[in-house]
Amino acid sequence: MLNRIKNLIEEIDKYTASNLEEIEAFRIKYLSKKGIIPQLFTEFKNVPQEQKKEFGQLLNTLKNNVQDKVTSLKNNLATNEIVDNNIDTSLTGDSLKLGTRHPVSIIRNEIIEIFVRLGFTISEGPEIEDDWHVFSSLNFPEEHPARDMQDTFFIESNPDVLLRTHTSSVQARVMENSKPPIRTISPGRVFRNEAISARAHCIFHQVEGLYIDKDVSFADLKQTLMYFAKELFGKDIKIRLRPSFFPFTEPSAEMDISCSLCKGEGCNVCKYTGWLEILGCGMVDPNVLKSNNIDSEKYTGFAFGMGVERIAMLKYGVKDLRLYFENDLRFLKQF
Ligand code: PHE
Repeated sequence: MLNRIKNLIEEIDKYTASNLEEIEAFRIKYLSKKGIIPQLFTEFKNVPQEQKKEFGQLLNTLKNNVQDKVTSLKNNLATNEIVDNNIDTSLTGDSLKLGTRHPVSIIRNEIIEIFVRLGFTISEGPEIEDDWHVFSSLNFPEEHPARDMQDTFFIESNPDVLLRTHTSSVQARVMENSKPPIRTISPGRVFRNEAISARAHCIFHQVEGLYIDKDVSFADLKQTLMYFAKELFGKDIKIRLRPSFFPFTEPSAEMDISCSLCKGEGCNVCKYTGWLEILGCGMVDPNVLKSNNIDSEKYTGFAFGMGVERIAMLKYGVKDLRLYFENDLRFLKQF
């Protein structure tokens, strides 16, 4: 009897299997209810007293060895299968590629940081707006041709639900809800019904600024914008202001910077003028202050607004604005 168990232990040690079915048959042969090991356990009572101890120990070893064998056979099979599937586990893995910030976000953040250093707060507002905040409160009379300057996307047939064409609407909301002094910038996405080309898109980003306090003058505006231009484009940059028109500012101006590519000598980016237009600005029209219940006798202010894509194009020398929207990784990973 003892020898029989010893033989079984040896047999098990030598056993190999080449598939799951064989392993399962092996397991059933020894461990199932009617298998060899349970049978041996029932014979335990017939073993003479002086052999019980040795018999018990051998039987337990046999049982443990069978269980270990089943586990190790299964493990071997699993490893062999991976190799069979032609997966080369010695190949080094693909490294995870880190994403980069979108160039428009990089420039937007740079612009924001410059104005935050000057004490401007950041304000945000809804992209779906009403007529009052985008036009009427900003001194666009109804039916006035100035509304055509910014081709508007209307939502459904209700002319009072529209996509904002500029983030001046956020400043209208700030004026409505707070008292001067106000010093804030509003970065955000805007929408205009324009044909998409290398220089224009129907969706783009703006940063607009508003400063209202006692005694704010045009000189303050000019100084602020000059500081901004030098911080963003370098201290050698020159600025110039040209008279312009916006319904919400009087006087109004457009600001040019000396062409950063040809340093003012003339190239195809600045169309051989040496200057590049980067933003619109002006002194807040007293009508705008009145619409928002701000005393226009006591307070004055300036405002400005710029397109982030346009500035990013100039800073990075990118000639087609559409690239910023295509999200081609080959383009984006350069920034
Ligand atoms: N809101 C104007 C635009 O979208 C820009 C601007 C802002 C001009 C403030 C003057 C003053 O074009």
